[in-house]
Amino acid sequence: MINFNVPPFTGKEIEYIKQSVENQKICGDGPFTQKCNEWIEEKTGTAKCLLTTSCTHATELAALLADIKEGDEVIMPSYTFVSTADAFVLRGATAVFVDIRPDTMNIDENLIEAAITPKTRAIVPMHYAGVSCEMDKIMELAQKYNLFVIEDAAQCIMATYKGKALGTIGDFGCYSFHETKNLSMGEGGAILIKDEKYINEAEIIREKGTNRSQYYRGQVDKYRWMNYGSSYLPSDMNAAYLWAQLELAAEITKARLARWEQYNTLLQPLKERGLLELPTIPEGCVHNGHMYYAKTRDLEERTELIEFLKENGIWSVFHYVPLHTAPAGQKFGKFVGEDVYTTKESERIFRLPMFYALKESEVDYIVSKVKEFYHV
Ligand SMILES: Cc1ncc(COP(=O)(O)O)c(C=O)c1O
Repeated sequence: MINFNVPPFTGKEIEYIKQSVENQKICGDGPFTQKCNEWIEEKTGTAKCLLTTSCTHATELAALLADIKEGDEVIMPSYTFVSTADAFVLRGATAVFVDIRPDTMNIDENLIEAAITPKTRAIVPMHYAGVSCEMDKIMELAQKYNLFVIEDAAQCIMATYKGKALGTIGDFGCYSFHETKNLSMGEGGAILIKDEKYINEAEIIREKGTNRSQYYRGQVDKYRWMNYGSSYLPSDMNAAYLWAQLELAAEITKARLARWEQYNTLLQPLKERGLLELPTIPEGCVHNGHMYYAKTRDLEERTELIEFLKENGIWSVFHYVPLHTAPAGQKFGKFVGEDVYTTKESERIFRLPMFYALKESEVDYIVSKVKEFYHV
């Protein structure tokens, strides 16, 4: 069976985790966490990066920093992972869903303005498959209406928009290092903070509401309870795993992009015959090979294709069930405008295996089976 995902592994992870254990520094904010934070800051140009226990938690932290409250409205796509909405709904806000663009599956930037009301506090663009949303337009709207922009950049490490790292364009950016992501630490994530004025508060909230980070740096002589907070810092053992991946981030991204290009080239004949739709990468977007997806004619065809691939030892998947159609989405959210593409496109999309260790010969085999399904 060709798995859908295999967690990235470079070989150095075990050595670094061993170091972390032997140095007796396994709790949060140890040497590996520091190295990872600094690496991400340097690579992306963000003012501050703080590793977190997940992207979900990074987004919760962003919602707290943006002071999202009961009655607020937060605009986002419905075609996204649940965490995009959870973080804001937990604060009592309403998730306001806007339709997506069928070419990138990202929020349609031209539909956002119509969803803005006096209660709107933030826009949360989710960059699907590491391909950026139209951030110029989104930032322009945010400025015009004085809104926060919190980028769900879960899938975006090493991806850029007009030369800027995804996650650094909005006020806050949230990365995921879950095992399904390009670079991983098992479970984990990071918050990127654009404006230095939020750094102190972010450190406090991440450390259970205390100023322990300042205490560790010798800036205060005791640490105290300063604000509400939670425990959003990961163990240094997890950061040790991530460090091995960051060291090889360029190589991992290159390998994924090579497999992505291979899929894209080999599947062209199916696109030309109108049998499959393939992804679009708009100008100005540099993606990271996070995902290879395509679209079938309809739901029925997708179900048959996924079944056919499974019979041939290939694990292909689909996602997401649009949030506005799910029980919690109906309770905590509302769709503004018409659902022209969200549901329709979500029923056609399927994803092919994509991971660091995926072999060229495996992609050849997978594509040969997709072609066989379509008798091409
Ligand atoms: C778009 C998106 N947002 C948020 C998340 C949540 O990430 P994590 O599992 O690190 O909390 C994911 C993970 O799958 C995701 O794909």
